[in-house]
Amino acid sequence: MNRRYRKTIIAGNWKMNMTPTEARALLDAVKSQCAKAKWCEVVVCVPYIDIPLAVRVLKDCRVSVGAQNLHQETNGAFTGEISANMLKDAGVKYVIIGHSERRQYFGETDALVSQKVGRALDAELRPIICVGETLQQRDMGVTLEIVGAQVKAALSGVTADKLRRVVFAYEPVWAIGTGRTASTEQAAEVCNHIRTLIRKIYGARASRGVTIQYGGSMNDANAKELLSELDIDGGLIGGASLKAEAFAAIVNAANQ
Ligand code: PGA
Repeated sequence: MNRRYRKTIIAGNWKMNMTPTEARALLDAVKSQCAKAKWCEVVVCVPYIDIPLAVRVLKDCRVSVGAQNLHQETNGAFTGEISANMLKDAGVKYVIIGHSERRQYFGETDALVSQKVGRALDAELRPIICVGETLQQRDMGVTLEIVGAQVKAALSGVTADKLRRVVFAYEPVWAIGTGRTASTEQAAEVCNHIRTLIRKIYGARASRGVTIQYGGSMNDANAKELLSELDIDGGLIGGASLKAEAFAAIVNAANQ
């Protein structure tokens, strides 16, 4: 991380876990254990149904609420979907876009991700854009090309002014939920590549300001080392964000 130029952000991705009843205790624990972090921003990306509760519990504390997805249209006949404006109005600040589980199980393409990023920015939400290669792509040696194409597509409609609100999360698909973390060198190489690409499009100053997280089996044991890299500005945390102590330990590592 490099706090001189950009925010360090630790975001929990609860995925499809925690009923509102279950969420209450975890939110209370996150509030008491993470709200004092001064040097990093803490976010919990909760299921839609938990958003009102999360906003209520975390009101008046430094932890922000995020969502895990949104629909690409602003409103209309899209039964079962949630719009950017609904999230904004409910008190949400961040939204994960293009998570590999959405790309894999719900057919989200780079073009759709780009549309969703546009909607999020229009509503003044901060998108956390997920990019990352599969194991097969890494083995084929095309990681940087794949991630580069995802980054370029996601940014295709983003003006320099709006780039300031964008967060990237580099999440190798093979490291998500597997207990297998990318090595610090692998993670740093790709995060650095993402920043280099952003620099080519928007210039050095803009690229220095973008927060780039690592995600994929990040936990209390490996967070400190990953975050010691200048280009890794935080983490998107799945499994470990469901345990308040583990999540707080990662927040602590980012708050050093
Ligand atoms: P994990 O998930 O920490 O459980 O690997 C990360 C993510 O999917 O964002």
